[in-house]
Amino acid sequence: EESKKIQLTEDASLPEATKAKIVHLAPLRSKRVRVRGWVHRLRDQKGIMFIVLRDGTGYLQCVLSGVVAKTYEALTLTIESTVELTGTLQSVPEGKTAPGGHELTVDYWKVLGAAPGAEDAFTNRLNEKSDPSILADLRHLVIRGETASTVLRLRAAMLSAFRDSYAAHSLTEVTPPCMVQTQVEGGATLFKFDYYGQPAFLTQSSQLYLETCLPALGDVFCVQESFRAENSHTRRHLSEYTHLEAELGFIDFNDLMTHIEAIICETVDRLLVNESTAALIKQLNPSFKAPSRPFLRLSYVDAIKWLNEHNILHPKEDAEGNEVKDAEGKAIMVEHEVGDDIAEAAERQMTDIIGTPVFLYGFPAELKAFYMKKMKSPEGVDSKHVFTESCDLLMPGVGEIVGGSMRISDSDELIAAYKREGIDPSPYYWYTDQRKYGTCEHGGYGLGVERLLAWLANRYTVRECSLYPRWPGRATP
Ligand code: 4AD
Repeated sequence: EESKKIQLTEDASLPEATKAKIVHLAPLRSKRVRVRGWVHRLRDQKGIMFIVLRDGTGYLQCVLSGVVAKTYEALTLTIESTVELTGTLQSVPEGKTAPGGHELTVDYWKVLGAAPGAEDAFTNRLNEKSDPSILADLRHLVIRGETASTVLRLRAAMLSAFRDSYAAHSLTEVTPPCMVQTQVEGGATLFKFDYYGQPAFLTQSSQLYLETCLPALGDVFCVQESFRAENSHTRRHLSEYTHLEAELGFIDFNDLMTHIEAIICETVDRLLVNESTAALIKQLNPSFKAPSRPFLRLSYVDAIKWLNEHNILHPKEDAEGNEVKDAEGKAIMVEHEVGDDIAEAAERQMTDIIGTPVFLYGFPAELKAFYMKKMKSPEGVDSKHVFTESCDLLMPGVGEIVGGSMRISDSDELIAAYKREGIDPSPYYWYTDQRKYGTCEHGGYGLGVERLLAWLANRYTVRECSLYPRWPGRATP
C-alpha cells in the first residue's frame, strides 16, 4: 500500500540523458544514459534490485536502490516486461564482472509494458524442462533466450560473411522466384498448389534459374527458401530451408570443388577474424576449429568400399524398396554395393569416423537428378553404371551440407535426359534455351544454411538453426 503512494519523477537538475542501444554504451561511461528493453533477469537483494536488461543488441546490468526500488512497479516487476531505465553508466568495480564491463545506476525508470506474473508468468510457460513440442509451440518465446538468440545472430553474421565471400569471387546475387512450374529434384518432394487455376510448386532449388543467369550476369548466387515435402523426421531435414546456391560458368569439376571449399573456408575465416562473431562461435561451440584445406575427396565407389571395410551396413530392401525383416522382425543388414544410395545413418557414421570435411563425388546417374553431367571415364571397372560429375560435401556431426554438380551442357543430351526421366520438356523451354543460345561448361551447388549453421554452432538439430522451423506436421508459429 505504501509503495502505491510513491510516484517517481525525473530530477530536472541532473544532466540530460543520452538515449542509446546497449551495444553503443561504452563511449558513454560516466554519463547519464537512457536505455529501453526487456527485463531479462531480475533479482532482489536486501532491497536493492538487479535487472539484467536486454535490448537485442546486448545485455546491461542495472542497479536500482533507494526510492526507485520501492515503488509499486518495482515490487511487482516481472521478467520480460519492457522498461525504460535512466541513470549513470559506471565501470564495474575491480574484481566484478558485468556484460560490457559497466552497469547502470538507475535514478529514474518506468515500465512501458508489464508482463504477467503468477500463473501466466513467462517462466511458468517456458523453462529448461519444457518438452520439445511445447518448445516448438512457444518458439516465439524461446527465441528470446540467450542460446537461441545467439544462434540467430550467428546465422545473420554467417549469411553476411557468405555475401562478402561471393563478392570477393565476383558472383552477383539474384533473387529467383519461389513459385514455379518446373521441378528440379524429383516429383516426390514437391509441394503443389493452385496458381490461378494452374498447377504450380514451391521451389525445391533455384538452380535452373541460376543457370539461365550465367549469360546475363556471369557467375551468380542466391539465398532463397527451398521447400521439400519429404516425410523425414530427422535432425537435418526441414520442409522449408534456406538454400544458398551458386552457379559458375566455364569451369570444370575440379574447379567446382575447389570453389566450394574456398567459399566455405573464407566465410569461416571472416567469422573468426571478426571479434564479435568469433565470440558467438566460442559461446556456442567452444572447441570449434576452422577446417584445414584441401578437403578430403573420396569417390562414391571408394566410399562403398570404405563402408564395407568398416562394417557399416544398411538395411536390406526388396524390389519395392521396403525393408526386409528377419523372423524376429529385425531389419536384415547387408553390405553396400555400387548402385546403392548411401543413406543418412551410414553417411553420418562415415563422416564421424573420418572426422574432417569430406567431398564424396562421382555418384551413379540413377541416384541423381536429370541435369547432371556424366563422367567421361567411368570410375572403377563397373560398366553397369554411369557416373556423374556430382559431389556432396559432408561435415562431421551433420553429414551432407552441400550438393553440387557439373550440368549437362549439350541440348540434345539434355533432351534425352528429360525423356529418360519421363519429364515433359515443354515447361523447361527456357532451361533448354540456356544450351541453345551459346552453351558453356558450367556447374554449381546448393548449401543448406541451417545444416552449415548446425555444424558451426554445434547444434543437435537444424530445427534450432531456423527462425521458425517447418517439418512434417509443424507450420506454427
Ligand atoms: O542436394 P540437394 O537436393 O541439391 C539441389 O537442390 C541442387 N539443385 C542444388 C544446386 O546444385 N544448386 O540440396 C542441396 C543442399 C543439401 O546438401 C542440404 O544441405 C540442403 O540443401 N537440403 C536440406 N536442408 C534442410 N532440409 C532439407 N529437407 C534439405 N534438403 C536439402
